[in-house]
Amino acid sequence: MLVYTNIEDLRRHYVRRTPKMFYDYAESGSWTEQTFRENTSDFQHIHLKQRVAVDMSGRSIRSMMIGEQVAMPVALAPVGLTGMQSADGEIKAARAAEKFGVPFTLSTMSICSIEDVAEHTTQPFWFQVYTLKDDDFMRRLFERAKAAKCSAIVVTVDLQVLGQRHKDLKNGLSAPPKLTAKSIANMATKIPWGLEMLKTKRRSFGNIVGHAKGVTDPSSLSAWTAEAFDVSVKTLKDTE
Ligand SMILES: Cc1cc2nc3c(=O)[nH]c(=O)nc-3n(C[C@H](O)[C@H](O)[C@H](O)COP(=O)(O)O)c2cc1C
Repeated sequence: MLVYTNIEDLRRHYVRRTPKMFYDYAESGSWTEQTFRENTSDFQHIHLKQRVAVDMSGRSIRSMMIGEQVAMPVALAPVGLTGMQSADGEIKAARAAEKFGVPFTLSTMSICSIEDVAEHTTQPFWFQVYTLKDDDFMRRLFERAKAAKCSAIVVTVDLQVLGQRHKDLKNGLSAPPKLTAKSIANMATKIPWGLEMLKTKRRSFGNIVGHAKGVTDPSSLSAWTAEAFDVSVKTLKDTE
């Protein structure tokens, strides 16, 4: 049995198992990737101070987050394309969060849809939205989140303009993955990932394809994404 004791162990497993285009999506940043590197390295400057001779019995990190009891004050952040990292990834992550007792946030850019996750969990989860230009689509997203009994809406306000992510451009990142000689050669080395993917029907953006105007199949999605974000954040200002 493999014993994973830290995030680096998981990362090594992940790089072996996952096609390069999806690994690079999660493990890279935009432009020079300076912020991506510093998001990790900055933490190395933080030191925890040990306190001694204090009563350590009955310690707990249980807490409340927006009215919900949580095992620790941490929620799973929204991560787009999780269902491409591992088949049905959002359902797996939501169930793990539920078992541990912390909130799970489903991204608008998830592979499993709001309804998919609701169907496979018993606790309410949070749902993340962007400020998008398409009011109808936004309204329907809120209705779907409400129908799925989501307990919070998380609004992302830092993505009016998509960053230029060089690795994603070079890899031709897409969901489902585009079949090129390079991507096929790489996926052929990821057999367990591929077998799991073949078993699920969830291989594109479940909240968008079939729901946003004009996006009836994955091929029309990139045109939608390029146009969808509200550069002015008008949607937010209107609701102030
Ligand atoms: C691979 C990846 C995908 C992400 N996808 C989304 C997303 O779909 N929606 C969103 O609002 N934030 C997304 N984020 C941002 C995260 O939810 C989170 O806010 C950010 O990583 C900062 O939190 P951290 O310091 O714990 O990493 C993503 C981040 C990463 C690394």
